[in-house]
Amino acid sequence: MKKKNGYYPDNIIVTRNLTKKFGTLCAVNQMNLSVGNEIFGILGPNGSGKTTTVLMLTTLLEPTEGTAYICGYNIQEEPRKVRESISYVPQDMAVDVRLTGRENVEMFAELYGVKNPAERSEEVLQVLELSDRADEFAKVYSGGMRRRLELAQALVHNPRVLFLDEPTVGLDVAARKKIWEHIKKLRSAGMTIFVTTHYMDEADKHCDRVAIIDHGTIRAIDTPENLKRIISKDVISVSIKGSYMGIDLPGVRFALEEDDELIFYADSGDLALPLIKDALTAGGAIVTAMSLRKPSLDDVFLHLVGTEEDNRPFNLSTFRNVTGRRG
Ligand SMILES: Nc1ncnc2c1ncn2[C@@H]1O[C@H](COP(=O)(O)OP(=O)(O)OP(=O)(O)O)[C@@H](O)[C@H]1O
Ligand SMILES: [Mg+2]
Repeated sequence: MKKKNGYYPDNIIVTRNLTKKFGTLCAVNQMNLSVGNEIFGILGPNGSGKTTTVLMLTTLLEPTEGTAYICGYNIQEEPRKVRESISYVPQDMAVDVRLTGRENVEMFAELYGVKNPAERSEEVLQVLELSDRADEFAKVYSGGMRRRLELAQALVHNPRVLFLDEPTVGLDVAARKKIWEHIKKLRSAGMTIFVTTHYMDEADKHCDRVAIIDHGTIRAIDTPENLKRIISKDVISVSIKGSYMGIDLPGVRFALEEDDELIFYADSGDLALPLIKDALTAGGAIVTAMSLRKPSLDDVFLHLVGTEEDNRPFNLSTFRNVTGRRG
């Protein structure tokens, strides 16, 4: 394999201490990534630096420190080459609702200087299952169709790398599923997908690898499976009547209180379940329900990022309800 600028081309996206500061705020802090032909997810809460990262990688924002390579091209020295290799669907991109779906895509085809704009537009409209409705105005499209139209626009020049910032925010479950099906097909066809999300279940289900980012700093990068092994424990949820006074059991750790449920991590859930019930009952609480499950990315996120800002329980439902700028 041929090296370019010191990197093998299978390292499609490489960042070296990539950093962005806005005044005293460090939005992205010394980020080091190496992304191949995969769906690579950046998972983090609002304000954690996801969009800032994407803007730097797509040459739209100058890093304060460090650099990055896309397909071997340096983002600062060869921005034009970088832009030829990529496409970017922003977080709050909007299609032109006064044009038809087809016109929206053809406009992009012309902008990119695609050879046969009409043919290529029809092709991508077909890929995204929009050709039946392509001649209707985009204003009558559903949210999911608009998002697919944005993807069609981004794909019209056949990019090597696709950057998607929160591709499913504001969409219903069926539309989200469909978007992910398309993203997976693109990956299978050899495209590198760099996607930001704060939907942990989506990152878990659909990304090959996930970077967990918090306050601009990467806390972990791995496959969802391996990330979940960080916890390497069972998770026990308990609903009680009365207040939680604390329990002290070997192999059991209190994690957080979420939606009136107590969450514990246990080395062995089966053994811990009755012990937790007894301990809570002895403490004066009435246990109304208990369940045992394997860790999810939510748990990993809480474990890694947790509640460092203050000691109040991290409110997962608030976090989940934050739906970004779309919708
Ligand atoms: N142009 C800017 N000037 C000043 N601060 C900025 C600017 N752009 C972003 N920030 C700040 O940088 C931090 C990271 O923002 P960014 O938009 O990258 O977060 P995000 O992870 O994409 O969040 P969200 O999930 O809300 O989209 C935030 O604290 C934000 O307020
Ligand atoms: Mg963002």
